[in-house]
Amino acid sequence: MDLTFRSDAYIDGQWRSGAQRFAVYNPANQQVIAHAPDLGAAEAEEAVATAHKAFPAWAGKAAKERAQILRRWFELMTADLDRLGRLISLEGGKPFAEAKGEAAYGAAFVEWFGEEAKRAYGRAIPATTPTRRYVTIKQPVGVAAAITPWNFPMAMITRKAAPALAAGCTFVVKPPSQTPLTALALAELAEQAGVPPGVFNVVTTRNHTGDVGRVLCESPLVRKFSFTGSTEVGKTLGALCVGSTVKKVSLELGGNAPLMVFADADLDLAVKGAVASKFRNAGQTCVCANRILVEDAIYDAFSQKLTEAVAELKVGPGDRDGVEIGPLIDEKAIEKVERMVAEALASGATALTGGKKHPAGAQFYTPTVLANVTRDMRVNTEEIFGPVAPLIRFKSEDEAVAIANDTPFGLAAYFFTGDVNRAWRVAERIEAGMVSINDGVFSNEVIPFGGVKESGLGREGGVEGLEEYLETKFLNFGGFA
Ligand code: SIN
Repeated sequence: MDLTFRSDAYIDGQWRSGAQRFAVYNPANQQVIAHAPDLGAAEAEEAVATAHKAFPAWAGKAAKERAQILRRWFELMTADLDRLGRLISLEGGKPFAEAKGEAAYGAAFVEWFGEEAKRAYGRAIPATTPTRRYVTIKQPVGVAAAITPWNFPMAMITRKAAPALAAGCTFVVKPPSQTPLTALALAELAEQAGVPPGVFNVVTTRNHTGDVGRVLCESPLVRKFSFTGSTEVGKTLGALCVGSTVKKVSLELGGNAPLMVFADADLDLAVKGAVASKFRNAGQTCVCANRILVEDAIYDAFSQKLTEAVAELKVGPGDRDGVEIGPLIDEKAIEKVERMVAEALASGATALTGGKKHPAGAQFYTPTVLANVTRDMRVNTEEIFGPVAPLIRFKSEDEAVAIANDTPFGLAAYFFTGDVNRAWRVAERIEAGMVSINDGVFSNEVIPFGGVKESGLGREGGVEGLEEYLETKFLNFGGFA
């Protein structure tokens, strides 16, 4: 079956070409899939202006009507999961089954927030004098803009666009240059679902000058900005947004998730959880376990079981049956992983399996387990974003928590234990926005996803996700006799 997709940008309900176009590559073989418009500041301004123009009518619809349109969008996505999965896999490299899983995950945000649109409740507050009445109402912030990452070409857009549209905001997204085609497929389905022109806009760009991003951060017409990506870039964008026009900002940034295995854990469950967490999307998620902390008493048994499981992971292009680990996104990504592993090996770590590139192609890395990792190594202190599991030994719960918290990041954390008291104790002491106990995967549309410390601001998904696109307005009714 041929894979059909759009490759023009989408602004004000129109498919827009551009004088310049950039190539989109298949990371499995570096072949060109398509060319997308390389738009700049002028088109970004136009998209923002169009979203601004569309805002009053969209915000003015009953929440129920917006919910019905979102429901249609969700149903079209659900009917199209195969194509969306193939597209995500083609431009992002994910194995098809995982990519189709992302398409379902992405669609679920549209379903969830369509339902939540109807529950944007205010409050009645008991007044401080009998002559007044106090209430709050919730109103959409205005035009919302987003910059999204390549590791979830669909879900990181819908996790922002769905609450924005549900709240009554209009939306402009700049998708990553590596994976713009999935974003454009979402626009195609939005158009079919009856999302009015100007409400959902996609501005594609190669991003070599950052012009589009600057407009989205600095335009006075944009009232909300949301970014998923690195902490370094997030700090710059956040500063631009606040420094220019004091926008409401959500930042979902880098992580350095610890996964702790205590001696009282079910080891098979811990191995399963560690593989699921570490090797999801070839290690390229912000919530992947970055480093695995193992209690001394079970270190040997755990590392042996983990090594056996990792050595069996099937590596290859995303469209091949049974593949579990696809390519890394680009040359820079593979070079970074190679460098970090080489440094760890040179400093005394040992590769229990892997430790090198994979023969499947230039951007494939062999799933790796590193033993004898120490706290000063970069594989412990920095986000690896690749299929490499560094093992660090600990002797006590206090030491495990100290190592886990010894990072400026605080997105996700995982631990495995059979002791319910320890489960509560450690969960409360860990500095992270999300803690998963005895489970390596937790993401879905109903939970508040987000971090503490330098991992970001705000929450996406859950009831909290809608709040990010709403303002609370206080009303004072005075003059009661
Ligand atoms: C991310 O890597 O930014 C998102 C991961 C997820 O949604 O589980």
